[in-house]
Amino acid sequence: MKGVILAGGMGSRLHPLTKVTNKHLLPVYDKPMIYYPIETLVRGGIRDILIVTGGNSAGDFLKLLGNGKHFGLKHIHYTYQEGEGGIAEALSLAEDFSEGEKIVVVLGDNILEENITPYVERFEKQSSGARIFLKKVPDPKRFGVPVFQNKKIIRVVEKPRKPACSYAVAGLYMYDAKIFDIIKTLKPSERGELEISDVNNIYIRQSKLEYDILKGYWTDAGTFESLMLANVLAFKGQTKKKKK
Ligand code: DAU
Repeated sequence: MKGVILAGGMGSRLHPLTKVTNKHLLPVYDKPMIYYPIETLVRGGIRDILIVTGGNSAGDFLKLLGNGKHFGLKHIHYTYQEGEGGIAEALSLAEDFSEGEKIVVVLGDNILEENITPYVERFEKQSSGARIFLKKVPDPKRFGVPVFQNKKIIRVVEKPRKPACSYAVAGLYMYDAKIFDIIKTLKPSERGELEISDVNNIYIRQSKLEYDILKGYWTDAGTFESLMLANVLAFKGQTKKKKK
């Protein structure tokens, strides 16, 4: 399975921190943010990785990461998203790279504690469709939120005013090759983006979306509060590992 990290967008919620650099190059405890999604994929056994980036600091990713030697990789693929047309638009740039294989997608500002290997294995066995990951959060309004009926997800609502539950859809997704045809059918949302929740809703309508609930800690790092939390969690995570 191949891996895609989405690290485009303007990070405008973090101004002025992101005025002269890309959000994913900001520090989270002792590493640049982009290290975390790369490590999530590498720990999950994914070695073939594409980074989608954008904005004025795209060249800095190459300076920082090169061919991924630091992560034990031989090679990292890069591509460039013009503007910020949304997560699904950024993902559409991975079509050639994926070569018809299933893909694991991680948002560049997501910090995940767990080793995703068991989920990757589960998705390898899943004949087709998509797999998403949920985590209970105190502020579901900021995220994609599932609506359940008899333990099945019947819909994902992006940033609901009245969340149906306290689960957020995490920025870790697994898709079969149909994803690229699905993205081509999307229309921009009210915020002018091609939404990943719309993609997931199409898989739901086809009864082809499975989910797991994440056990370890998870957060995004796209607002001042969540960036702060990401730093604290990463610090605690490192300290826990050192004690073992
Ligand atoms: O963190 C999980 C949440 O991420 C999900 O629960 C939501 O359903 C999903 O829409 C997303 O919500 P955000 O509004 O927080 O996403 P944001 O615009 O911050 O983008 C997250 C990452 O996606 C960002 O770090 C880089 C990448 N991205 C985003 C956009 C808009 C791109 O690569 N290109 C883009 O155009």
